Amino acid sequence: MTDNKAAVLVVCLGNICRSPLGEALLRHHAETAGLATAITVDSAGTAGWHEGKPPSHGSIEAAARNGLDITGQRSRPVVAEDFSRFDLILAMDARNLADLKASAPKGAKARIVRMMDYGTGEARDVPDPYGEPIEAFLEVFAMIDRAARGAIERLAATRGLQATSE
Ligand code: 4NP
Repeated sequence: MTDNKAAVLVVCLGNICRSPLGEALLRHHAETAGLATAITVDSAGTAGWHEGKPPSHGSIEAAARNGLDITGQRSRPVVAEDFSRFDLILAMDARNLADLKASAPKGAKARIVRMMDYGTGEARDVPDPYGEPIEAFLEVFAMIDRAARGAIERLAATRGLQATSE
């Protein structure tokens, strides 16, 4: 019996629109796959402008319409320790990816990759819905949902994670 675990950090700019959805959806798909204890998930922003704030109304609404409650999440900035605490850091767009790579301490263990690339194989950004109407948040939700489902499958397969019934 192996006891492999994976720690995943989802990152966008403000940690109030996209990455809170990424955190919730990765956790949701990990639970569905029986991998809740094997996969640790958190989210953060490359900018600390909204530190301590809950997710945006659009993200809360898009999540709620899909049966997920993200109101308990609070924004926080990425910190240096994240690059060693997490195995995988999933960036929402190319700018987040570049900013993360530029601030990663030398020799840090985390693999840094865009979330759509990792979870779906499509080389694309999850666009920033900040200030957009609810439709934009619902589209972003659907993209992140697909990526999160794929990411959990890929993690389980490549890391040999064991499902538990709890
Ligand atoms: P997020 O969206 O990166 O998906 O959380 C944004 C949130 C805030 C800002 C930009 C994008 N902002 O400029 O404050």
